[in-house]
Amino acid sequence: MFGARCLLRALRSCSSAPCPRHKPSAKLSVRDALGAQNASGERVKVQGWIRSVRSQKEVLFLHVNDGSSLESLQVVADSSFDSRELAFGSSVEVQGQLVKSLSKRQNVELKAEKIEVVGNCDAKAFPFKYKERHPLEYLRQYPHLRCRTNVLGSILRVRSEATAAIHSFFKPSSKIKVPEENFFNVPVFLTVSGQLHLEVMSGAFTQVFTFGPTFRAENSQSRRHLAEFYMVEAEISFLESLQDLMQVMEGLFKTTTMTVLSNCPEDVELCHRFISPGQKDRLEHMLKNNFLIISYTEAVEILKQASQNFTFTPEWGADLHTEHEKYLVKHCGDIPVFVINYPLALKPFYMRDNEDSPQHTVAAVDLLVPGVGELFGGSLREERYHFLEQRLARYLDLRRFGSVPHGGFGMGFERYLQCILGIDNIKDVIPFPRFTHSCLL
Ligand code: 4AD
Ligand code: MG
Repeated sequence: MFGARCLLRALRSCSSAPCPRHKPSAKLSVRDALGAQNASGERVKVQGWIRSVRSQKEVLFLHVNDGSSLESLQVVADSSFDSRELAFGSSVEVQGQLVKSLSKRQNVELKAEKIEVVGNCDAKAFPFKYKERHPLEYLRQYPHLRCRTNVLGSILRVRSEATAAIHSFFKPSSKIKVPEENFFNVPVFLTVSGQLHLEVMSGAFTQVFTFGPTFRAENSQSRRHLAEFYMVEAEISFLESLQDLMQVMEGLFKTTTMTVLSNCPEDVELCHRFISPGQKDRLEHMLKNNFLIISYTEAVEILKQASQNFTFTPEWGADLHTEHEKYLVKHCGDIPVFVINYPLALKPFYMRDNEDSPQHTVAAVDLLVPGVGELFGGSLREERYHFLEQRLARYLDLRRFGSVPHGGFGMGFERYLQCILGIDNIKDVIPFPRFTHSCLL
């Protein structure tokens, strides 16, 4: 999705003097049309899909949406335009004058002079019905059409805004983005993480990030797992403490969320009001509090003392399951909580050995958030050569030549969207969900 602000310039240039009728109208997105401050009859052209049709005796009202905003543009036409083709779902091109609206419901409306139906829509066969609110589970059956609904439109605009916000979070301090790899002459595998490539780059640039698709043969149909998901990953050189790493993680979450809240308030509000009531307060609570920090050992103690019966009995040395993560977040007052210093045996080889005993741990960190559970996974990396001997040769080279302390993390982007919007199922925050036994599109 990209903004069409440049088209506003076209509108302005046309608004300085009355346009002759034959002059081509400036094409405007619905968002820019709605945002036009002093509409006074400029001729414009708007293209989009009909969201509603209301026919009165002498006048016909259409609402046209082109995905640029939640709100649709009201088109007012005289009844001579009325036709069966102007139906819910049809695509249209409308030319006319952008004027101030007399109604309080909208600032501007488009007085139609010409309406062209670009593509008919048989409203009876169309799976979505006018004025009906369809459950997300129902919409999921139509991955090819669901982006035309208000709710998916809002979620995907938030997704797009959050993507931009993440890029700008990393941009100001000249962090380098590592491109995702996509062409080779040798057999290659889809990556489960960009971490190795980031670690390579962090040997020359002190702060690097990547943000792209990640593939995992997750044999899970859960509401928080996909086979293809997007991950934001960062790697920071000369970083020596988990504290510093957690600061970046918390900063990424909070800064991105504030940007999304201020740039697409209507879209966020739609999700908060209709899909997850109470989510607005829950999110504010997360944003205004400092995230908490507990050790894995403390987490296990908390779980052991819980009155709740877990399916998996909590025990030092065992992985935390979703039920445990949920309990811990509740226990921490629904504030995101960093769990640090996991057992060495549970975590990958690259995590930094804490050299503690008798409970041997590594400097790992997971961020658990309300409603979702694990959102980030990261660690200090083992930068000491002798700790890594017998492991990957290339990985060891990174330690042989100019090794520095460093750390990094990965944040599941879909889980992030679930967390801020309160969307229960991960399949609803990605345009085309792919998971075990399902690749509809
Ligand atoms: O904890 P993970 O597996 O961490 C890594 O892959 C590290 N190499 C990242 C790094 O340090 N550069 O994955 C990171 C995050 C998880 O916390 C979770 O939010 C998300 O990615 N994630 C998934 N999201 C959707 N579907 C899946 N199957 C996911 N697996 C992980
Ligand atoms: Mg993890």
